[in-house]
Amino acid sequence: MHVARIGGLLSSLLAVAAAATLSTQGLYDLVERRLPGHSNDFVFTLNDTAHTNSSKPPNDAYLVSTHNNGSISIEGNSLSALASGLRRYFVDVAHVDMYWFIGSRLNQTTSPLPRPTESITGSSIVPWRYYFNTVTFSYTTAFWTWEDWELELDWLALHGVNLPLAWVGFEKILLEVFQSVNLTTSEILPFFSGPAFQAWNRFGNTQGSWGGELPLQWIDTQFELQLRILDRMLALGMTPILPAFTGFVPRALIDVHPDSLVVNGSQWEEFPTEYTNTTFLEPSDPLFDTLQDAVIAKQLEYYGNITTFYTLDQYNENDPYSGDLDYLRNITHGTWQSLKSANPAAVWVMQGWLFTSNADFWTNERIEAYLSGVEEDEDMLILDLFSESQPQWQRTNSYYGKPWIWCQLHNYGGNMGLYGQVSNVTVNPIDALANSSSLVGFGLTPEGQQGNEIMYKLLLDQAWQKTSIDTESYFHDWVRVRYAALNSTVPTELYAAWELLRTSAYNNTNLTSNAVSKAIFELAPNVTKLTDRTGHHPTTINYDPAIVVEAWTYLYNATMSESNLWLNPAFTHDFVDVTRQVLSNAFVSSYKGLIATWNTTSTANATTLQAHADELATILRATDQILSTLPQFSLAPWIASARQWATYPSNTTSQSNVSAMADFYEYNARNQITLWGPDGEISDYASKSWGGLVGDYYLPRWETFLDYLVGVSPKAYSDVEARARVAGVEKAFQVAGTGLGVRKAGETGDVRSVVESAVVPALKKLALV
Ligand SMILES: *[C@@H]1O[C@H](CO)[C@@H](O)[C@H](O)[C@H]1NC(C)=O
Ligand SMILES: *[C@@H]1O[C@H](CO)[C@@H](O)[C@H](O)[C@H]1NC(C)=O
Ligand SMILES: *[C@@H]1O[C@H](CO)[C@@H](O)[C@H](O)[C@H]1NC(C)=O
Ligand SMILES: *[C@@H]1O[C@H](CO)[C@@H](O)[C@H](O)[C@H]1NC(C)=O
Ligand SMILES: *[C@@H]1O[C@H](CO)[C@@H](O)[C@H](O)[C@H]1NC(C)=O
Ligand SMILES: *[C@@H]1O[C@H](CO)[C@@H](O)[C@H](O)[C@H]1NC(C)=O
Ligand SMILES: *[C@@H]1O[C@H](CO)[C@@H](O)[C@H](O)[C@H]1NC(C)=O
Ligand SMILES: *[C@@H]1O[C@H](CO)[C@@H](O)[C@H](O)[C@H]1NC(C)=O
Ligand SMILES: *[C@@H]1O[C@H](CO)[C@@H](O)[C@H](O)[C@H]1NC(C)=O
Ligand SMILES: *[C@@H]1O[C@H](CO)[C@@H](O)[C@H](O)[C@H]1NC(C)=O
Ligand SMILES: *[C@@H]1O[C@H](CO)[C@@H](O)[C@H](O)[C@H]1NC(C)=O
Ligand SMILES: *[C@@H]1O[C@H](CO)[C@@H](O)[C@H](O)[C@H]1NC(C)=O
Repeated sequence: MHVARIGGLLSSLLAVAAAATLSTQGLYDLVERRLPGHSNDFVFTLNDTAHTNSSKPPNDAYLVSTHNNGSISIEGNSLSALASGLRRYFVDVAHVDMYWFIGSRLNQTTSPLPRPTESITGSSIVPWRYYFNTVTFSYTTAFWTWEDWELELDWLALHGVNLPLAWVGFEKILLEVFQSVNLTTSEILPFFSGPAFQAWNRFGNTQGSWGGELPLQWIDTQFELQLRILDRMLALGMTPILPAFTGFVPRALIDVHPDSLVVNGSQWEEFPTEYTNTTFLEPSDPLFDTLQDAVIAKQLEYYGNITTFYTLDQYNENDPYSGDLDYLRNITHGTWQSLKSANPAAVWVMQGWLFTSNADFWTNERIEAYLSGVEEDEDMLILDLFSESQPQWQRTNSYYGKPWIWCQLHNYGGNMGLYGQVSNVTVNPIDALANSSSLVGFGLTPEGQQGNEIMYKLLLDQAWQKTSIDTESYFHDWVRVRYAALNSTVPTELYAAWELLRTSAYNNTNLTSNAVSKAIFELAPNVTKLTDRTGHHPTTINYDPAIVVEAWTYLYNATMSESNLWLNPAFTHDFVDVTRQVLSNAFVSSYKGLIATWNTTSTANATTLQAHADELATILRATDQILSTLPQFSLAPWIASARQWATYPSNTTSQSNVSAMADFYEYNARNQITLWGPDGEISDYASKSWGGLVGDYYLPRWETFLDYLVGVSPKAYSDVEARARVAGVEKAFQVAGTGLGVRKAGETGDVRSVVESAVVPALKKLALV
């Protein structure tokens, strides 16, 4: 590792950490990054420096106006208030914004920058705006570069987020801490999971890594990335939530400390014992305190005294060793004491997911006992993780008084489908605020940061409005800012398209299906149980698919009057996304036709059967082509970003190690989105509608299956045979370096040409347009 380099970063970090609470420099830097040459147009005035340093702040407030000297003046009581005021200026005055996937559109405004003609004020209705799920660090950011993080952190700051999780590089801390209690590096490394699976190791769901051991190189480079992330979070007025010691330890701890009080955690998702049943050190063992102290102290040493918030989950999808109420109270009590002795100001942040996912175990009596071990309510902060669909705060009487945050989870595994609960996320957090005195924030906890960005902006904006946002005008304004800029008008068809989406795909109210829907073509082919699934990965379509086709037609028609839309990255992104949904929905009805025909198979309709099979393949080919037109809908960047970590920093590793490491990282990237586990333990959980993945994974799975199906009657059909054939395709895809699914940018053409050559003909054939 480059000690000098780390040292340099560290001292600059500490300097920034000390100054960040007082300095508005980070905001000028943000403007300069996104609008080069324009930071001098702004004057940021922080009027309450005590506030920024507080772990229980009052609400934020800003005032945007035109200064006497002509500058754009933004005054506020915290850095986050200033950043929020800045975005309000961008959206309401300059009519530009910043987005996932397409990046910053801030420079699409006019020059000189427009001045506010009247003052604009804003006040948050909650002190905290939270972001991230522990697993987002694996499903989305696992292989992110610093440039990816820079964009993300600017987005978070502008959207008023002031309390983000900061998990990156934690294994460096754990490694050194376990070394400090006499475990050797070779005893520790086998504990860690691979780069794409670290979240579940941090939760104690998994231990170890299939396909190879986690290299030290990964641990070091991620730690270096974390230093930069924290540096920037502080500069932008965010309070990072750092990890703490949970109790999960390498198995070898038992040999080194034979007297330690350890138990095995439960088995997770049918994983073999080798990779789960993670060893857990009981908080009542004095060694637990030693390790907690070391983890907190090491972070203070490396990062400075930058936060009082620590994320700590011991029973996420992992049941306690005992359900005894005393035992549960002792667990939290011991853990809390260890945190407080390591940092007297510590606040324990906990994902409340366990109470949803393992509701059978977590009776109210047990939840109350468990939470009561933390004797000071203010020392805990609970994330009500899935508030829009399965809120737990009512049944737990607001977590028995602990401060908590209303969170929208929205998607599982970064699945891709147009989806939202526009009514719920605008109505329910406002109701909760009126009905729960310990509600202190609104937050976003998506498993993957994948799509439907409007739903995420909606809740963060709701944090600044006392009454429920009127979603009709919100969607209208979104269309204007997203596609246009100050001096252009937006074709009316675009408004019409989004209004249709708002009242259909974005207005799910039937919560038997309660999160982003999944395309059935992403599931292993089968003759049963693919459609009409409910729950967290629903395949039920809770709206009339014809409405999304109509929205598609509006978008397409808009290009007739405004052909420049083909050059607009916001438009092409959304058009590809809606096309994806139209084709995915069409696949469902086509599949139903196939199965209905097959169930009455006779030689007479073999031709009909083959025609159905061909139609499914046609839909998948068109889907693969349209997705491949844009990198954000393609597999290639996911693989490339995984591989590039092996060459970072470029001069520390030998060439042969580099290619072995790159292959290992690529295997992780491929495995997570397909088999998810050495043997498909939760296969297709994190599936994606990505160009390359559709063409080289889902399509061959279906072709293999359909080839078998058209030649076999329902009576002769063998599930074992079908599975074996499909499994061959799945295994082949895991192998790194084959190039499977990796399309070159632009290989299939640009959006317009693919829409005209493949999509429109396919939709015509399906009689959809
Ligand atoms: C700081 O500015 C905000 C926005 O103008 C205002 O609401 C708040 O009262 C000010 N705070 C102080 C201490 O002046
Ligand atoms: C605007 O910003 C984008 C994204 O940062 C960049 O790609 C583009 O070149 C910029 N355009 C201009 C005109 O500066
Ligand atoms: C504004 O209008 C001018 C002149 O028509 C054009 O060149 C420019 O691209 C437009 N800017 C935006 C952001 O649409
Ligand atoms: C580690 O080993 C050293 C030397 O054997 C011993 O003095 C020390 O107590 C051990 N530390 C722990 C935490 O067991
Ligand atoms: C793993 O956990 C399961 C319960 O989830 C338990 O039945 C099994 O005995 C455990 N195995 C080990 C080796 O601890
Ligand atoms: C961190 O800073 C706070 C005040 O900002 C102080 O109360 C606390 O003692 C410091 N913690 C450590 C471990 O230095
Ligand atoms: C809980 O802790 C108390 C005090 O340390 C101890 O007396 C009791 O036996 C513990 N109970 C359980 C079930 O572990
Ligand atoms: C939001 O979802 C919750 C949980 O299912 C439900 O109780 C509530 O009625 C919903 N609210 C709205 C406005 O849809
Ligand atoms: C959403 O659907 C519900 C139930 O069908 C309906 O009452 C409500 O008006 C719809 N809201 C929107 C925004 O379409
Ligand atoms: C909600 O969805 C379920 C599952 O698809 C369905 O059975 C039920 O009829 C739906 N309820 C309503 C009110 O539409
Ligand atoms: C799209 O344009 C066609 C041709 O002008 C027209 O027939 C159709 O009604 C339009 N559809 C929508 C949804 O705008
Ligand atoms: C089809 O689904 C059933 C039920 O989930 C399962 O038992 C079977 O193995 C699946 N068949 C294939 C070919 O995957």
